[in-house]
Amino acid sequence: MTTSPVKTSLTGIKPTAEPHLGNYLGAIRPALQLVERYRSFYFVADYHALTTVRDPSALRAHSWTVAATWLACGLDPSETVLFRQSDVPLVFELAWVLGCVAATGQLERGHAYKDALARGEAPNAGVFCYPLLMAADILLYDTNVVPIGADQKQHLELTRDLAARINHLYGDGVLVVPEIVTSDHPTVPGLDGHKMSKSRGNTIPLFASAKGLKKAVFRIKTGSEALEEPKSTDGSIVYELFRHVAPAEAPEMERKLAAGGYGWGHAKQDLVDALEAYLREKRRRYEALREDEDALERILAGGAEVASAIARATMSRVREATGIGLAR
Ligand code: ADP
Ligand code: TRP
Repeated sequence: MTTSPVKTSLTGIKPTAEPHLGNYLGAIRPALQLVERYRSFYFVADYHALTTVRDPSALRAHSWTVAATWLACGLDPSETVLFRQSDVPLVFELAWVLGCVAATGQLERGHAYKDALARGEAPNAGVFCYPLLMAADILLYDTNVVPIGADQKQHLELTRDLAARINHLYGDGVLVVPEIVTSDHPTVPGLDGHKMSKSRGNTIPLFASAKGLKKAVFRIKTGSEALEEPKSTDGSIVYELFRHVAPAEAPEMERKLAAGGYGWGHAKQDLVDALEAYLREKRRRYEALREDEDALERILAGGAEVASAIARATMSRVREATGIGLAR
């Protein structure tokens, strides 16, 4: 039986590219807001990234990038367990056990797998099995809540189903059935007005230089009204992004736009300044962390040690329950 009085929150980020403002507002910040109330496990999902990343040095570098991002955004490794998925290989043992109770139809209905087929691709088996590994990530650590974006909800539903099935087959309490906590943060638009996403190349990278921020913001499309004309915030990407990073100052920008005499160029410059103020300190911390990979490794190793102890306890319950190995 698992009866930890403090509930556990867990989430993972794939090290596939530089994190962007949407990742921060939609995933990293909401997860960090939970650390006071939950025992938290936040990890770098490097084996998940392997379904798409083929360059070994990029995968390794992005893993440090994601670890440094969590830390730069405020994760305190003395209170939150920060680790790399691959440092706790027991996750594969649990993924196998879950695969033995999952129906292939459940994996065939996976959004990522189905979308790849619909695009005419031939997805690798890692893409097909991705939800099993994700379910194992969650269930290995007796997770109670999983803060995730709405796009990950289907994976969580499968995780809950598999945990319930194991408990039904082998006895209550073998696995903890987690709750879903989807981020209520609205989707952050990208420079082109579509969802900000690495794959669309429309992002504001979280740790871009001041110059890089300006370059990105000045790519945003705006209306073509003359300077003196009044302007509406409806459908304005510049205003929407400004509202995300400087909510207290947004009414003032709305007023200035409506009054006329304030152009989209001015609004863009105000957005650049707001982003710089919002991100400057995080970027400074990130750069310092990123320079010392040995220090990052030490933090990840410390996290893996704590995570492994819990993983071993879970797997010993699972082995005992399923009849794998000797009875205790
Ligand atoms: P991307 O779409 O850039 O590849 P990921 O799929 O790796 O990002 O997402 C990592 C996390 O960040 C997920 O929890 C996801 O919901 C969140 N996220 C990604 N893009 C946005 C966005 N534009 N707005 C809000 N949250 C986002
Ligand atoms: N699939 C998640 C994403 O693409 C990353 C992830 C892997 C994850 N394992 C997880 C998230 C476990 C939450 C819990 O964003």
